Amino acid sequence: MKREFCKILSNYEVADAVYKMVIESKSISKEALPGQFLHIKPSQNYDPLLRRPISICDLEQDKGRITLLYRVCGKGTSLFSGIKPGDYLDIMGPLGKGFPIFENKRTSIIGGGIGVAPLLYLSKRLKKADIYLGFKDEVYMIEEFMSCSDDIYIYTENGSRGSKGYPMEALEKNISFYDVVYACGPRKMLSAIKRLCEKNQVECYLSMEERMGCGIGACLVCACQSSNIEEYKKVCSDGPVFNSKEVSLDD
Ligand SMILES: Cc1cc2nc3c(=O)[nH]c(=O)nc-3n(C[C@H](O)[C@H](O)[C@H](O)COP(=O)(O)OP(=O)(O)OC[C@H]3O[C@@H](n4cnc5c(N)ncnc54)[C@H](O)[C@@H]3O)c2cc1C
Ligand code: FES
Repeated sequence: MKREFCKILSNYEVADAVYKMVIESKSISKEALPGQFLHIKPSQNYDPLLRRPISICDLEQDKGRITLLYRVCGKGTSLFSGIKPGDYLDIMGPLGKGFPIFENKRTSIIGGGIGVAPLLYLSKRLKKADIYLGFKDEVYMIEEFMSCSDDIYIYTENGSRGSKGYPMEALEKNISFYDVVYACGPRKMLSAIKRLCEKNQVECYLSMEERMGCGIGACLVCACQSSNIEEYKKVCSDGPVFNSKEVSLDD
């Protein structure tokens, strides 16, 4: 894990309140794996006090560039959206455990909304995974995903792009084709994917989200329920990617 002051190369809106930011990072980009995240200080002062976790969306190791995709939902991400090319951000990373890579298994990737963020670099690394993406109405980053796979299923809730409905519908039909499913998205979706995979004995890796403090396993702010009722897991250091059997998503 490194702490680096990274130069911002670009930062612009790709859909309503969704931004793509490209940063230059020589040292973090050398180590980063799909599914890991960066812990970013939103301002140069202490308001807000805590760093914000954002997934590594894409990585060009040869150029030392990392792409982030984030949705503006509060103070920290709103400050990110105002950052200009040439500015610098105080970044810790790469943090957490990423997705295990199974190049020779039949794999599929499913993402919902801003949950597509950690899945692009994974898609590039897996090369042959089938990809299922779901959005409310506006879609984003789909050209980038299309360049990673010939089998891509796009869904929007209102049918404005791709099929109308949810990507789970297609995954449910095709589940018997896969050895491994990778997922990131709303908790309800992850819970349904966990049930589907466990019922069909398909290995499943979920990227989980919890509010974070330190980001390095020291404060317990990010604790989530383990599948063993007497234990918890730390999303920042035991995850954010977990085998579905390790965690409980029952509310
Ligand atoms: C490992 C990890 C990776 C992430 N990757 C991305 C990413 O690639 N792109 C992206 O847009 N977001 C990502 N997030 C979520 C992102 O960190 C939060 O949206 C961000 O910290 C909110 O900060 P804020 O100051 O803008 O909002 P705040 O003012 O802190 O919160 C605004 C609202 O968002 C909710 N919220 C804040 N943090 C979280 C969280 N971690 N999980 C669920 N709800 C939360 C709050 O309860 C509140 O309702 C990730 C979170 C984790 C834990
Ligand atoms: S955020 Fe501090 S232990 Fe995970």
